Amino acid sequence: MNLEEKISKLKKEKKAIILAHNYQRPEIQDIADYVGDSIELSRKAMLEKDAEILVFAAVDFMAESAAILNPEKKVLLPTLGARCPMAQMLTVDEIKRAKSHYPNAPVVLYVNTLATSKAYCDICCTSANAVEVINSLNADTVLFGPDRNLAEYVAEKTGKTLIPIPEWGFCPTHLLFQPEDITVLRQQYPDATVMSHPECSGEIRRVSDFVGSTSKMCYYAKECSAKTIVVATEEGILHRLHKENPEKRFVIAYEGAVCPNMKLTTLDRVYTALKEEKHVVKVPEKIAKKARTTLEKMFLVKS
Ligand code: 13P
Ligand code: SF4
Repeated sequence: MNLEEKISKLKKEKKAIILAHNYQRPEIQDIADYVGDSIELSRKAMLEKDAEILVFAAVDFMAESAAILNPEKKVLLPTLGARCPMAQMLTVDEIKRAKSHYPNAPVVLYVNTLATSKAYCDICCTSANAVEVINSLNADTVLFGPDRNLAEYVAEKTGKTLIPIPEWGFCPTHLLFQPEDITVLRQQYPDATVMSHPECSGEIRRVSDFVGSTSKMCYYAKECSAKTIVVATEEGILHRLHKENPEKRFVIAYEGAVCPNMKLTTLDRVYTALKEEKHVVKVPEKIAKKARTTLEKMFLVKS
């Protein structure tokens, strides 16, 4: 039996499902029961009523959100070190400090945060629904963290004032894209369309034809008429894009755009995680209860 078959057998025996983010390694995406962006993975985790174990092939905050939303299920993160550095950039103290300066501004947090921070916000959002979440609030000034680029993008789209907390939060992988590279690729592929993630800088967004979450990029790629698509997000998404659109050409806007934390999940680690039922992601109920409300509020916003 090969590793994929062993994983599949264990999955059945243990009533487990594997949820993988769009940035995961190709072989992980291929064995996953579901591949998606962060909001889709959370939603899917809630809908899987029969599953007893959820294996999160992703990073810490995604597994943590699933554990918060599914306290009765065992949520496993195959590699404990798979942590999103952006999620570590916002502390509770920083939120409290910002709140003391803007006591009337609601706090909206990107899901790329730790559960302890989520517990101190009013509502969460993902890159797929951030604009709708901000528009749903009866406030013109909002504290938003931790991604400054996403804050700027949403401010442009909504016309509201988003105060970034911290002032400098960013994704190290999306910061690697440079507008000069897009200019060169546009010369090389004059008919290409360019799509980027809102975690990219404003310079990249402004030279893009489409800006959206990872899954929204996948839907756009299917629907647009372009035969060549330049992609400004983590390179793992190319596997899904190629699979779903074999007739189209996808060009990554920068070859080195790799999220090392997403790549920590390997087939071996998924197998071991399932076999030994580790590493169980647990959020203390006191924090989970508060954080759950902020995630549930997000699900009520139409997007
Ligand atoms: P998505 O919700 O668009 O998948 O983004 C998650 C993420 O971590 C992007 O870097
Ligand atoms: Fe975090 Fe960036 Fe990796 Fe997404 S790509 S998980 S934001 S470090």
